[in-house]
Amino acid sequence: MSGNKTFTMIKPDAVADGHSGAIIKMIEEAGFRIVSMKKTVLTPERAGQFYEVHKERPFYADLCKYMSSGPIVPMILEKENAVADFRTLIGATNPANAEEGTIRKLYARSIEANAIHGSDSDENAAIEGNFFFSATEQF
Ligand code: TYD
Repeated sequence: MSGNKTFTMIKPDAVADGHSGAIIKMIEEAGFRIVSMKKTVLTPERAGQFYEVHKERPFYADLCKYMSSGPIVPMILEKENAVADFRTLIGATNPANAEEGTIRKLYARSIEANAIHGSDSDENAAIEGNFFFSATEQF
């Protein structure tokens, strides 16, 4: 995956709250092209693999439980400067600190149930995209 792609997933809180459509609209209106998209559920084990980098953090167990609590909508997105521009669009990890108009400010419930994921590097975008989508699912 090249530097113009990022990976995201709409998290269980935002899917359950009926915000998937509004969030996808914001993503497309911000100029991102959807390369891959599906609705799926993570097992706690798969959630643990996805967030393995955080396994020593105090919030890890709760995060894995939460991320496997309901359906998510993972996507690969394409745009120039995708990783950084998408992080700007979603806002700070804690919605209380997120800028007005960002996805987390508008739709997140809390720091844990914070509506949406965004990769933090080109390298992780590629790893995370390939975690959910095979090569024949990436257009
Ligand atoms: P992190 O990679 O720090 O944030 P971001 O998703 O903005 O890149 O953390 C990953 C996820 O872990 C975060 O989206 C929500 C959860 N989390 C908590 O539940 N509690 C916390 O204190 C932190 C820092 C993160």
